[in-house]
Amino acid sequence: MVNPWFETVAEAQRRAKKHLPRPVYMALVAGSEKGLTTSDNMNAFSELGFAPHVAGLKDERELATEVMGQPLSMPVMISPTGVQAVHPDGEVAVARAAANRGVAMGLSSFASKSIEEVADANPQTFFQMYWVGDRDTLVERMERARAAGAKGLIMTLDWSFSMGRDWGSPEIPEKMDFTAMRKNALQGALHPKWLLQYAKSGSIPDLTTPNLKKPGQPAPTFFGAYGEWMGTPLPTWEDVAWLREQWGENFMLKGVMRVDDAKRAVDAGVTAISVSNHGGNNLDGTPGPIRALGPIADAVGDQVEVVMDGGVRRGGDVVKALALGAKAVMIGRAYLWGLAANGQAGVENVLDIMRSGIDSAVLGLGHKSVHDLSREDLIIAEDFVRKLGV
Ligand SMILES: Cc1cc2nc3c(=O)[nH]c(=O)nc-3n(C[C@H](O)[C@H](O)[C@H](O)COP(=O)(O)O)c2cc1C
Repeated sequence: MVNPWFETVAEAQRRAKKHLPRPVYMALVAGSEKGLTTSDNMNAFSELGFAPHVAGLKDERELATEVMGQPLSMPVMISPTGVQAVHPDGEVAVARAAANRGVAMGLSSFASKSIEEVADANPQTFFQMYWVGDRDTLVERMERARAAGAKGLIMTLDWSFSMGRDWGSPEIPEKMDFTAMRKNALQGALHPKWLLQYAKSGSIPDLTTPNLKKPGQPAPTFFGAYGEWMGTPLPTWEDVAWLREQWGENFMLKGVMRVDDAKRAVDAGVTAISVSNHGGNNLDGTPGPIRALGPIADAVGDQVEVVMDGGVRRGGDVVKALALGAKAVMIGRAYLWGLAANGQAGVENVLDIMRSGIDSAVLGLGHKSVHDLSREDLIIAEDFVRKLGV
């Protein structure tokens, strides 16, 4: 029997690939169009090196930090992902693992588990919303999350309904049984034309999004909710400020890639931004967030908390992001591979890999705390940075 413990996220991904039906695996690989952005998200980290010390290293290292009012045992959080068809316990398993490792959990509004269940499993839960439905509906969903105990709100705006990818999309099974429904949910999201055709055929699968349920009505299907999203007028900066006002403190805007947008987010009153391109699932050709991070942190890092997500697969990546000005990172696929490979224990395994990698890098760089990291610790390739919107 194979040892269920894995030593890297790459190994977790190999196991996920083996374990999952191909369509489910491909839904997590995701990405859009030519895959330029998904590749750059990870490859850009390779253009950053370390400048280690050899003696005078610190016997103990401090990894703890705080983001959006939540103490974290290390500068890593769970990024919200809309589909977790990889395991029956889905987001609840992820929330438990995160709680066991002292890490905050972002729950997607398109998740398959309710905010009540997830916040019970991890009191350090942030609820993520897209701009879907009218203002009353948005407030209703937000207040439900607050009542369930959500400690923060994440507003994700980087979605432009792009469709198609050059490496093909998972096949649609003829029979929509439970497994098939789950594995096709993300396909719906990434292929809206297919989604609409499917909806029109009258055989909408019963995959529901419990966090988008309206009072007195059944939870909408994933496809129904996506349709509502497509039909919602796009938000303005005034809408961002309005939503922030409704929620109050501990409000994150996720998906910022430009300095000018980061400044607008500050004006809108947000607590935090995540420098992110939706894991390469949005506009292909957007550079890796790690390239855009430095200029954004320089511009607004003293006014809001700056975190980043996209392409993080090891503790060293986390340390590189911190050295460039991030307070913490969020991980997406890394924990999904862990979940697929070994359920809750697999997510804990991934978080342990992150922790030991962060600790090794902080040790090698001669620091006693993650708070001491700076650009001095890095070798930054010429032409690495993308200063957008300056
Ligand atoms: C399968 C999948 C589903 C996702 N769903 C959401 C979502 O519902 N809401 C959201 O804000 N981001 C979503 N994201 C983006 C992640 O939160 C995060 O930005 C991204 O995965 C980070 O890149 P990484 O996977 O390389 O770590 C999703 C990403 C993936 C891979």
